[in-house]
Amino acid sequence: MFQPDQYELIDFGDGEKLERFGPHVVRRQSPSVERYSTDKRRWQCDFQFARQPQPKWSPEQPADDAWSISHGRKRFQLKQSPSGQVGVFPEQADNWDWIDSHRTAIAGMKAINLFAYTGGTTMQLADCGVDVTHVDAAKPVVGWARQNAEASDLAAKNIRWIVDDAVTYLRRESKRKNKYQILVADPPSFGRGPKGAVWKIQRDLPEMFELLRSVTDDLEMLIVSCHTPQVTARDLRQLTVNNFSINQRSGETLGLKLKSAKKKVLDNGECFRWSAH
Ligand SMILES: C[S@@+](CC[C@H](N)C(=O)[O-])C[C@H]1O[C@@H](n2cnc3c(N)ncnc32)[C@H](O)[C@@H]1O
Repeated sequence: MFQPDQYELIDFGDGEKLERFGPHVVRRQSPSVERYSTDKRRWQCDFQFARQPQPKWSPEQPADDAWSISHGRKRFQLKQSPSGQVGVFPEQADNWDWIDSHRTAIAGMKAINLFAYTGGTTMQLADCGVDVTHVDAAKPVVGWARQNAEASDLAAKNIRWIVDDAVTYLRRESKRKNKYQILVADPPSFGRGPKGAVWKIQRDLPEMFELLRSVTDDLEMLIVSCHTPQVTARDLRQLTVNNFSINQRSGETLGLKLKSAKKKVLDNGECFRWSAH
């Protein structure tokens, strides 16, 4: 988890979240919290993001005015992005802590991290001595991840930065017979590769798992998470069991949850994770 001085979910509900990222309190419209209710009369913030009538930050912050927060050794440079994100998904911190708890077992192994965004999991793996192939379709986001790794003093570690469609890259790696022992994927519901290839989770997840199997010889660790209501952690476990020789009951299905200062729990997605040790 993040230390509370680095990140805090203050409150959420009625379509908005109030969060503190280091020194700045951010209020954002978010469809994922429409089903919760809250009292917003005392909400105060430094920056606000509205989706309607059009995506807009206020006040707007100059792009070179990024600020940063840390989780362990990892440093995240944060800024206002047009989608309303600031550069980190704090609900993934539980997975970073879990990876850290396997540090000794995974050192020296090879990992592929798909849909890798600004590099939280990539940096965590690199910090544990893993060689990481970081794959994301968005070139600016891969550049951002690189900057985070540099700011965390992890850039000299063995990280390969790949701008590509996740499935296209996996097909290529499968043909080249490259192998990984650690598999990580955090696919969105919908996305586009840099050359226009379309990712649709409900159509493409089975092929992604088959390709993951083909690039693995000796599976050591797998973490697959998603944020699509139609795909549950149990579905992710079943796809893993179908493709890898692991026990039906092994591994862990979990919700990616964040607890607010008022102890309200926000569900931010589903995850299945498995480790050989
Ligand atoms: C939900 S974010 C992943 C969050 C990340 N795992 C983390 O914890 O920081 C989704 C990412 O998938 C990328 N993406 C979308 N479509 C893609 C595709 N077809 N291939 C590869 N990456 C894609 C986006 O650029 C974005 O960075």
